[in-house]
Amino acid sequence: MANSIINLFFIITLVAVAPLCFSHSTNGGYLYPQFYDRTCPQAQQIVKSIVAKAVANDPRMAASLLRLHFHDCFVKGCDASILLDSAGTLTSEKRSNPNRNSVRGFEVIDEIKSALERECPQTVSCADILAVAARDSTVLAGGPTWVVPLGRRDSKGASLSGSNNNIPAPNNTFQTILTKFKLQGLNIVDLVALSGSHTIGKSRCVSFRQRLYNQTGKSRPDFTLDQSYAAQLRTRCPQSGGDQNLFPLDFVSPTTFDNTYFKNLLSFKGLLNSDQVLVTKNQESLELVKRYAESNELFFQQFAESMVKMGNISPLTGRRGEIRKNCRKMNS
Ligand code: HEM
Ligand SMILES: *[C@@H]1O[C@H](CO)[C@@H](O)[C@H](O)[C@H]1NC(C)=O
Ligand SMILES: *[C@@H]1O[C@H](CO)[C@@H](O)[C@H](O)[C@H]1NC(C)=O
Repeated sequence: MANSIINLFFIITLVAVAPLCFSHSTNGGYLYPQFYDRTCPQAQQIVKSIVAKAVANDPRMAASLLRLHFHDCFVKGCDASILLDSAGTLTSEKRSNPNRNSVRGFEVIDEIKSALERECPQTVSCADILAVAARDSTVLAGGPTWVVPLGRRDSKGASLSGSNNNIPAPNNTFQTILTKFKLQGLNIVDLVALSGSHTIGKSRCVSFRQRLYNQTGKSRPDFTLDQSYAAQLRTRCPQSGGDQNLFPLDFVSPTTFDNTYFKNLLSFKGLLNSDQVLVTKNQESLELVKRYAESNELFFQQFAESMVKMGNISPLTGRRGEIRKNCRKMNS
């Protein structure tokens, strides 16, 4: 009896202390907002001004830069692996199913990197550029702001298979998508809040065509998609051809970062299957969608929190990785 109480005490102590011990390696405890304060105090201002210029030229760029950070973090952590071009034995993640003919914004990252190299050579990582650009993009589109923990370093490799397997596909089931988030240390609250990114940006026809014509393999559309909205979508997303035609993910306010995405889901006008399943396949996520549809403030607050959490996925810190001079290639 006494023994088991001591054991219990030991276990409770371990559970209480473990997060402190492991936080550095598992959730990016080494990252902190002031990382460049002495080595490159202008860093964040430089990123912001170039992102602002790019978004002024092309409003969609805010969405594209936000998505780049996501596709980076889900593959080997937030380490800028997505930015590497193929070279020698390295196969670029840019060729993966989720990225090919889809991700964009690399030229903007290049421009930011060159400006930073002029100001503070080999100091600011490409991975941190992605994290700050994602925050700045969100703010420029009208979304919430947050303080970005910094100090990520850049990978010396990429993973095509990681990119294919870890990033959820639009026709994955709710369970598969949630599992892929959990494998990154993210939960259902993060999943629903971060899916709110689809309040801006565009999707190609090929990413949701299945819903319009042959959802279950029985030549029937997806009946969880509003049928008059589906009819509209079919006019520019035919059964064959037009794969690259673009559609707003949030048709109500396509370039404004707000909670209309969640309102659309509740009226069965989510564009991707992965969007709509948040209200049709799981009670807990349905409740979250309702809460964010009701309160923009709650959505913004949770989005910011979940973005910081996503940005903390397995960063390279200390002497691991490197600070690339050119985001597209390793230093040597
Ligand atoms: C929950 C699972 C998710 C799935 C299945 C998914 C899937 C997709 C797909 C299929 C597209 C359209 C791509 C195309 O057709 O070219 C897209 C676009 C986009 N995604 Fe997601 N996504 C998910 C989560 C996220 C998250 C967590 C973020 C950011 C934190 C995000 C940000 C975006 C943005 C901003 C766009 C528009 C990009 C642009 O216009 O360039 N997505 N997503
Ligand atoms: C999902 O889409 C991919 C690519 O279009 C396709 O190969 C796959 O069969 C689809 N999966 C399901 C479950 O429909
Ligand atoms: C619908 O999907 C099923 C299973 O993927 C396939 O066998 C069938 O040929 C498809 N029908 C059409 C009209 O594309």
